Order: sequence, then C-alpha cells, then structure tokens
Amino acid sequence: MSNQKNIFVTQPLLPPLEEFTPYLEKIWENKILTNSGPFHQQLEQELSEYLGVKNISLFTNGTIALVTALQSLRITGEVITTPYSFVATAHSLLWNGIKPVFVDIDPETLNMDPSKIEAAITPQTTAIMPVHCYGHQCDVKAIQEIADTYNLKVIYDAAHAFGVSDSQGSILNYGDLSVLSFHATKVFNTIEGGAIISPDAKTKQRIDNLKNFGIVDESTVVAPGINGKMSEINSAFGLMQLKYIDDAIAQRKHISLTYREALEPVVGIRCVGPFDDQKSNGAYFPILVDPDFPLTRDELYEKLKSNNINPRRYFYPLISDFPMYRGLPSAQKGNLMVAESVAERVLCLPLYPSLSLADVNRVVEVITET
Ligand SMILES: Cc1ncc(COP(=O)(O)O)c(C=O)c1O
Repeated sequence: MSNQKNIFVTQPLLPPLEEFTPYLEKIWENKILTNSGPFHQQLEQELSEYLGVKNISLFTNGTIALVTALQSLRITGEVITTPYSFVATAHSLLWNGIKPVFVDIDPETLNMDPSKIEAAITPQTTAIMPVHCYGHQCDVKAIQEIADTYNLKVIYDAAHAFGVSDSQGSILNYGDLSVLSFHATKVFNTIEGGAIISPDAKTKQRIDNLKNFGIVDESTVVAPGINGKMSEINSAFGLMQLKYIDDAIAQRKHISLTYREALEPVVGIRCVGPFDDQKSNGAYFPILVDPDFPLTRDELYEKLKSNNINPRRYFYPLISDFPMYRGLPSAQKGNLMVAESVAERVLCLPLYPSLSLADVNRVVEVITET
C-alpha cells in the first residue's frame, strides 16, 4: 500500500470562504431563505446570460429537475433512453410511472446511437431522453429528425454539459428541454442543485409552478407539483461560483490536454473525446482500457487504488443491470452490446481544477509503468 496522499476522482470547486460571508450577511438581512428570493432570481438571470439560453428554472437537484421536466411535458407510456448514464436518468422515468426502453450507444461518442432508436419505437413511445455523456454532445440533428418524424418529445439529460457549445451556441438549446445538475461533483456546483432549460416563457412558468407544489397563486393549485425549489443559500453559492467558472473550466481543459498528450500514445488506452466542433467543459477524463493493454480495466483500477489514486468506473454497472431495470425486454443481453463492452473497459481519471500537474503525472506514471 502506498503512503502517498490520496488523489480523488474529483474535488468540488470552493472559492475562498470569506467571499461567501457577504452573501450570508445579505440573506440574514433580507430574512428571505427560499421561494424564488433575490439570489435565486439573480442566479437565473446570470446563468441564462452565461450559458446563452432563454429560460432557466433552478431546482434543488438534477434528479427532481428530470422528474419535473417529464411532468411538465406530460410524458407517459414509454421513453427511449440510454443505459450508459448515472442511474438518476432512468429513475426519473420510474418516478413518473414511465417504462424506460434502453437502446445501445455509439462506440465512438458513448452517447445514444440514433440508428438504434427507430426500432425501439412502439405506439406507447412519447419521448426520447438522451444524455450528453461526459458533456460530449449527442447527435442532436439525427435525434431531432426521428423525434419530428414520430412526433416525440426530446428531453436531454445535460447533467454533465454545463457550458458546452457548438457552432450554433449552447447545446442546452436542443430538444424540448435540457436538464442540468449542479451537484458538488459537477463542473459548476451549488452544493446540491439543478436546472431546466426551456425554450419559452410559458413552459418556464409551468415548470416554475410544478417545482412549487403546482401553486399558481394563494388560492390556486393547478397540478400535483413537487417541492423542487433551490434555496437562497444554494443560489448565493452559485453566484459566487460563477465568478470562478471560466478559470475552473480552463484548468480542467489544461489537465485534460496533459492527460491526453501522455496517454494517447499508450497502446491499449483510448481517450474518449472531446469531439470536433465543440467547446468542451473538461468535465471528465474517461479512458477505455482495451484488450491490448497489459492489464484489464479492473486490474488497472486496483493498481491505481493501491497507489492511493481513486478513479471511478463511470458508468459501470449499466443502468439496465440494476434490479429494477434488468427484467425489461430492452435490458436483455444482446440488445446493448456496445454499452456492455464499454462498461467493462471504462475508467474516469481524477480531474478537478486544483489537481496539480505533479499529481496528473503521478496518475500517468502508474498507468504507463505497467
Ligand atoms: C447523467 C446524470 N443525470 C442525472 C444526475 C442527477 O443529478 P443530481 O445529483 O443533481 O440529482 C447526475 C448526477 O448526479 C448525472 O450524472
């Protein structure tokens, strides 16, 4: 066992503590703690400008935002989604009584393979829920064409895609809705938090009602909404984070580049993304450990851990392997062959803005000395 310090897969972005104090003083002075207070409104405004989106509704976390996004479009029946994601993607469907239908992923991007969608559509299908996995953009054009042909809604799980854009601007503007997570481990965090990006003010209003119990005014409740509101403390934390986000993303990208330059020449290691024509956010550094590498993925994982380096197997197991999903017809062996193979080979390396280059080199050394 190594006696070197631990390197974790991620660490939250935490600006200097004293910068948070004035926000707290303001909250104490206002005595407004939640319910769309001034910091909540200010963060919605600043985020919509920063991200280049029209409407944003802040949430208490990304999962409740996904659940509410489905409610707001009245999605029912079956929804086509990817098994290669964090489990909250599919859980949001079960919480709405919707049947997830898994389709396989593209071997290059590891996002939903659009060529597999049509075969999965049934008369019960109402929507597609793809994930911009690791912040890498889905094939949005192909997905939209299928959605238009079959009259389906598209809700992107964009939990990883904060600040990602293509030649058209923010990728959060594709589909009917996009959902972000601001969890502590994400590129931009509000400790816990999330958001829905919507295309028009009417949809935002419906979402805002739904996240506040369905309340419209003092005597009117229009839907069985939930409590999904972001508090003033979390909103203030987000405002403080936003001042540091460009630097944080630049540091993440620099670290990613260092990993890439060191690992790309290594036989048996494949670095996944970023892909052409995208302004990425350096959210994750996933590698695939192929059979021509001297160790299996799990052997490399254990070796790194015995050197006090803690990568994560995002995403293993597949969502479709968990007990509440594995009985579904779409979860059966043979339907998700690419996802199954990738889940056996993937490793996300430590990556966060304050990770030193010495630590990056330590990770690279343990991988390459094999
Ligand atoms: C792809 C994906 N979807 C949804 C979520 C859920 O977000 P939250 O943790 O904010 O509820 C996460 C992360 O946690 C995620 O990685």
